[in-house]
Amino acid sequence: MKFFIDTADIDEVRKAADIGILDGVTTNPSLVADSGRKLKDVVLDICEIVDGPVSVEVTATDREGMLEEAREFATWADNTVIKVPLTPAGLSACHTLAGEGIDCNVTLCFSANQALLAARAGARFISPFIGRLDDIGQRGMGLIEDIVQMYSNYDYIDTEVLAASIRHPRHVTESALAGADVATIPADVIDQLFQHPKTDQGLQKFLDDWNASEANSG
Ligand code: E4P
Repeated sequence: MKFFIDTADIDEVRKAADIGILDGVTTNPSLVADSGRKLKDVVLDICEIVDGPVSVEVTATDREGMLEEAREFATWADNTVIKVPLTPAGLSACHTLAGEGIDCNVTLCFSANQALLAARAGARFISPFIGRLDDIGQRGMGLIEDIVQMYSNYDYIDTEVLAASIRHPRHVTESALAGADVATIPADVIDQLFQHPKTDQGLQKFLDDWNASEANSG
């Protein structure tokens, strides 16, 4: 499973890239607004650091407005992917952009049928939102499982399942078990993936034993 980071914070992108685990980045209008920076500045900075796909979301809600924004974003860097919402206008824009060789990430997916529509429209990625489904008492991971299974029934579907709205490490494990192609993960959850008390205790014991030993003297 590929690891994307879900952020518009350049320091978080750099930190994950430096560790060597980063395959791409997703942003959204809320994350960019939180950064307090201009969208283009954020995207150019991210694309300097990351070679993989960098998702940039349109804010127009009509097809022509989305196409105009998308074509502009596509000029910013070779690796921008256009995020469009799962609406009729968004899928129509996705279909047109795919025909122009511009990759789309169809976002705000909350049902298996929506994912089927996105694949038909030529999406490179479909983004089912696990956490937001959990928030309303549904099982978000069930949606990932359904989409992975549905897509695997058809050889001609090459849309990648990108598990989004990830809230904790268990979501990452279960996305991989379900066969998601990608998980886009917030920085605090990436940090948690490294952690295990037995790792810390084991390392401390090795260091204590080493420092107390003859092998370390002279
Ligand atoms: C995905 O691309 C979205 O940016 C993101 O995963 C949304 O997550 P949230 O539900 O935690 O806002």
